[in-house]
Amino acid sequence: MAEKPWDGRFAIPTDKSVERFTSSIAIDSRMFREDIQGSIAHSRMLASVGILSDAEADAIEKGLREIETEIEAGRFAYDDSLEDIHMHIETALTEKIGDAARKLHTARSRNDQVALDIRLWLRRETLEILDGLRRLRSVLVDLAEAHLHVPMPGYTHTQRAQPVLFSHHMMAYYEMFTRDARRFEDALTRINVMPLGAAALAGTPHPIDRELVRRLLDFPEMAANSMDAVADRDFIAEFLSAASISMVHFSRISEELILWSTSEFAFIQLSDAFTTGSSIMPQKKNPDIPELVRGKTGRVLGHLVNILTLMKSLPMTYNRDMQEDKFPLFDGVDTLKDVLDIYIRMLPTMKVQEERLKKACETGFLNATDMADYLVERGLPFRKAHSVVGKAVAYALSRGKELQDLSLKELQEFSGLVEGDIFEALSVESMINRRRSAGGTATENVKAAIRNARTVL
Ligand code: ARG
Repeated sequence: MAEKPWDGRFAIPTDKSVERFTSSIAIDSRMFREDIQGSIAHSRMLASVGILSDAEADAIEKGLREIETEIEAGRFAYDDSLEDIHMHIETALTEKIGDAARKLHTARSRNDQVALDIRLWLRRETLEILDGLRRLRSVLVDLAEAHLHVPMPGYTHTQRAQPVLFSHHMMAYYEMFTRDARRFEDALTRINVMPLGAAALAGTPHPIDRELVRRLLDFPEMAANSMDAVADRDFIAEFLSAASISMVHFSRISEELILWSTSEFAFIQLSDAFTTGSSIMPQKKNPDIPELVRGKTGRVLGHLVNILTLMKSLPMTYNRDMQEDKFPLFDGVDTLKDVLDIYIRMLPTMKVQEERLKKACETGFLNATDMADYLVERGLPFRKAHSVVGKAVAYALSRGKELQDLSLKELQEFSGLVEGDIFEALSVESMINRRRSAGGTATENVKAAIRNARTVL
């Protein structure tokens, strides 16, 4: 059994069941690189202020690099009696280099050490997520650009409402994922803060140089209050909040892809490479990826509630409860990265059923608003126009027709303002391209949005 750093105070050894219960090594070992990076910066700083000799700091750095290689190669043994990654690495270093390793923890506590490790780890992961979001957004812009000629029904209440460009629909998701990226960038400014030097909670009497550690680890700022530095995990809650919102966006696009690939909609076809079959029904091709993404959204939302509940009512400063922060954080990061990756691969392989989308715009009275707008342009107040068109719709329905299938004479029965150019106004192309208001679906607007997105990306 490994000796405990707190052995001096204890008369009998820790019970095995306690070691198993309190151990976090199975989860936090994945921060080994950050732990080593943080320890090297700390030991260089200790040497620069004279607490360690240069030779000791060199031995520490060399030993830590060897341990890093051993862990990477899978040649490192984990043991619950050593609790967490911090104690595993420190113990291994002591076995390697002896007394110099016993000085490494001077002016440091696991409380500020773990806060540092999580921040270093999450900073790197957040940058990777930002890169994933950038690639996803560029896939959406590609889809928009490739389908500029494709109209589709736009929906409210899942009822056909007005025609829009398929590209406009894709660019709506581009906007959502762009805001997600902004949220991660903003969260990053609070993740990227250097806590080391807080020690257990109150700071340290040793003449440390926190500014040097900040520079060595490339943090733009350092935590201003030692208690806050070890007590809070709000940066994790912020990260998971941004991740949750992004997952909600993913679950919405997933829901649409699922609906669109039904034979009822048949707006898209997902590639065989990104669908699965049924073990009993030979005809089936199932949209499992969007379904799983929709399902995994619940996980990430749960992780956000987990971290908020974990931190709620904790007294200052560090409490062991906080060790539970890593599972929701790690799984939240892994889930979001998996989802980003699979969407970046899947979306470009999806086939858009252009004819089917066009046809869908021609039924269901998507041009009713446009007939009303036509009458408004000819002087009728909108409310009156609405009522006139309502009657025309009821009439057409009773004959199993669409507005554009009625004759000019029939349409004129409803209003004397109707003339021959009404049919042009009721066409899908005109409906789309007349919506030139800023942010509307007209082709020229969507083209400008795409150009704009390209310069941002
Ligand atoms: N494994 C602990 C965690 O993840 C490290 C900090 C332990 N600090 C302590 N005072 N026991 O939170």
